[in-house]
Amino acid sequence: ATTLRAAAAQAGLFFGAAAGPGRVNAFFSSEFGQLTPENDMKPDAIANANGTLRNTGNADTLVNFAQSNNMLVRGHTMVWYSQAGQLQGANQSTLNTYIGNALLRWGNKVAYWDVVNEALADNNAGTRRSQWPHTLDRDANGDGDYFDATDTDYIRDSFTRAKQVVQQNGLSTKLCINDYDVEGLTVQGGGRNRKADALYDIVRAYGQGSNRLIDCVGFQSHFNDNPNSIITDDLQANIQRFADLGVEVQLTELDIDDDLSNNDIGQGQAENYRKVVRACLNVTRCTGITVWGIADSESWRASERGLLFTGSNGNYQKKAAYTAVLEEL
Ligand code: XIL
Repeated sequence: ATTLRAAAAQAGLFFGAAAGPGRVNAFFSSEFGQLTPENDMKPDAIANANGTLRNTGNADTLVNFAQSNNMLVRGHTMVWYSQAGQLQGANQSTLNTYIGNALLRWGNKVAYWDVVNEALADNNAGTRRSQWPHTLDRDANGDGDYFDATDTDYIRDSFTRAKQVVQQNGLSTKLCINDYDVEGLTVQGGGRNRKADALYDIVRAYGQGSNRLIDCVGFQSHFNDNPNSIITDDLQANIQRFADLGVEVQLTELDIDDDLSNNDIGQGQAENYRKVVRACLNVTRCTGITVWGIADSESWRASERGLLFTGSNGNYQKKAAYTAVLEEL
């Protein structure tokens, strides 16, 4: 195969990219089989304070583009502390209204939805962020169950609402939880990745069995020089343990800092890309990889040169990392 899209399809997974309306064209749809709106489906772009939708034009453009080019769409994202816009601080009832409206706006044109994004705190604490209502953090009442039925938990409640809408409307959309620094079982330098373990606890509670609320887990995969964000050798083992619960796993926002090659693991960026792609390929239920943009210069972290192309404005050149990914697929 000569494109990432075709190579991935042959290998049985999708390969996509994040983009806005200005970036989707014939090049994009030939190279990528999946599209994640980088900003245009976030609540600050499309949510009213009462949970209704507004200004969905850009999101519609992206979904329609994907539709006419037989590409998958990942909806990104509904419940997130950042870019929450008018939903910042909304109560569960408003969140539920919004979740229903967002799901029904695009229906099956969105194959995967990030219902909850970045629920976990930093500093490898294994705890939740506190922006949305929940009473639990790592078995606060000491009964051994992290997520008791009587506890307030916006994650459970948001997925419960989303699943209800999916079922009542016969949708096939899969409902995902997405986070970063959850990629490895351990962190660079050794030690448990407690943020990954906390995500695992959530998926263990809500992502198992035929009545599962959570269908899929996104590892953002912004690999950089933070010790918790280094590509560790146990990436595949971590993907596997989630897959073993029955959920799909996707690498949803992949970029790999170029300067990783000079320090932490002593390999070039292309080799790092190979390693990450291989880890996903080796797990049957790792069903897709999405890079967070096309070209370095247009990336949210441009100075890190973490993507597969140089150039800009549709005039793109393939990097060594591109060739490595194509070969590996
Ligand atoms: C980023 C976008 O790339 C930027 O354009 C925007 O200014 C901020 O958000 N985790 C996520 C993504 O889930 O939505 C973020 O995207 C990057 C980190």
